[in-house]
Amino acid sequence: MKVLIVGSGGREHAIAWKVAQSEKVDKIYCAPGNAGCAEYAECVPIGAMEFDKLVAFAKENEIDLTVIGMDDPLVGGVVDAFEQAGLRVFGPRKNAAILEGSKAFSKDLMKKYNIPTATYENFDDADAALAYLETARFPIVLKADGLALGKGVLICNTLEEAKDGVRSIMLDKQFGTAGNRMVIEEFMTGREVSVLSFVDGNTIKTMTSAQDHKRAKDGDQGLNTGGMGTFSPSPFYTDEVDEFCKKYIYQPTVDAMKAEGREFKGIIFFGLMLTPNGPRVLEYNARFGDPETQVVLPRMKSDIVDVFEACIDGTLDQVELEFEDNAAVCVVLASDGYPLKYEKGFPIEGLEEFQKHEGYYCFHAGTKFDGETIVTNGGRVLGVTAKGKDLKEARANAYAATEWVSFANKYKRNDIGKAIDES
Ligand code: AMP
Ligand code: GLY
Repeated sequence: MKVLIVGSGGREHAIAWKVAQSEKVDKIYCAPGNAGCAEYAECVPIGAMEFDKLVAFAKENEIDLTVIGMDDPLVGGVVDAFEQAGLRVFGPRKNAAILEGSKAFSKDLMKKYNIPTATYENFDDADAALAYLETARFPIVLKADGLALGKGVLICNTLEEAKDGVRSIMLDKQFGTAGNRMVIEEFMTGREVSVLSFVDGNTIKTMTSAQDHKRAKDGDQGLNTGGMGTFSPSPFYTDEVDEFCKKYIYQPTVDAMKAEGREFKGIIFFGLMLTPNGPRVLEYNARFGDPETQVVLPRMKSDIVDVFEACIDGTLDQVELEFEDNAAVCVVLASDGYPLKYEKGFPIEGLEEFQKHEGYYCFHAGTKFDGETIVTNGGRVLGVTAKGKDLKEARANAYAATEWVSFANKYKRNDIGKAIDES
C-alpha cells in the first residue's frame, strides 16, 4: 500500500512512524513533512491547504490511503475534495469537522443532546456580549468561535478584562475571522485530560488517555503554546471517569453528529475537565492532538492502518484496539522565545542516539534539511519521548534523553508530568 500523510509537525512524524510499522505499507509520502518524517517517508513540497495539488499528487502516484493530520485542511473540506476524486482518505468531511471548526456549533450540539459541558451563551454581536458580561460571574471564559491555533481562549478575572477581551476578539479581530462569533462560558476547575478516539460514523473506540502542558513555563506560567509536553496515561482518568464518559459523552457525541446529518469518521479528540461535579467537555478537536499523539501512538499495539481503514469502511466494531500497559512522557524541545519571537536555522546534534535505544523516540516538530544537516525550523523543534513501566520511570527516561540532543537556544519545561507525583 501507498500512504500519504498531510501535515508537517511532531504529530505527523509520529503518525508516519506508526504507519511505517504496518506490514501492509510499502511506501509513505508526507506533504510537506519535515526532516524527521523523511526517515520513513518521501517528503513532497505541497502545503496542507493546496487541495488541488494534493488530490492530483494522490491520483498520479496511486495513493491507496491519505491521512490528514491537521485541523485547517479538515475544516476547509480536504476530505470532501479527496472523496469527490474517488480517493480513500481518513478524516471527517467538512460538515463534520465543524465539531472543531466552530465552538458555537459544538456548544449548541452539546446543549441539544445533553452532553455535559460548561454553561454558555453564543454571540454574533459585540454589544450583546458586552451587555451580557454586566450580570456575569467571574472568572469567565471567552472563546473565539473559529480556529485560532489553540490561542482563541481568554480566561478573564474581572469585568474590565472581559470587556477588553470581547473587544479584542470581536472588534479588533485579534484572531481574525475566527472572532466573528464568540462563546462566553462558565469557568470550570479541575484536572484536564485529553482522550483521543477513532470513530467510523457509528462506533467509537477510545485510545489511552493523555495530558498536555500548554503553558510555556514551569509551574504552568507563561503564555499558552501548542503544547510543551505530554504524558500518558493520566492517573486521574480512572475507570469510573471512563465509564461516565462512555455513557454521557463519547457515544452520545457520535450519535448526535449522526442525528444532525453530519456523520463523523476520523478522530474525535475530547478535551475534558474532571470537575468536582463530574467530567465536562472543554472542547472537541477533529484530529489527533499534538503532542498527545507522541505519547499515545508509541503505546498502541494495534496496526494503525487497519484501524484507519475500518473507520473509512464503517467496520470499527470488528477491530481490537489495544495499548501497552506502561507509560510514556514527551518533553518538547523548543526554540528559546517560543511562542513569541525565536531564531531558527541552528544545526541539531545527537539525533542518532535515539536509534540505539529501544523505547525512546525523537519526533521532529520544526526541523528541515540544510544540505546534509538537520537544522531547527520552528518554535517547537523536537518531541523527545520515552516509555517506562510507569509514569515516573517514563519521565526520568524522557528527561535523560533530552540531554542527548543539542542545538543553540534549546528550551524545555522541567516539570512535564510532575502532576503525577501528587496522584
Ligand atoms: P480550549 O481550546 O477550549 O481547550 O481551551 C484552551 C484551554 O483553556 C483549556 O485547555 C483550558 O485550560 C482552558 N479552558 C477552556 N475552557 C475553560 C473553562 N470553561 N473553564 C476553565 N478553563 C477553560
Ligand atoms: N495539544 C493540544 C492540541 O493538539 O490541540
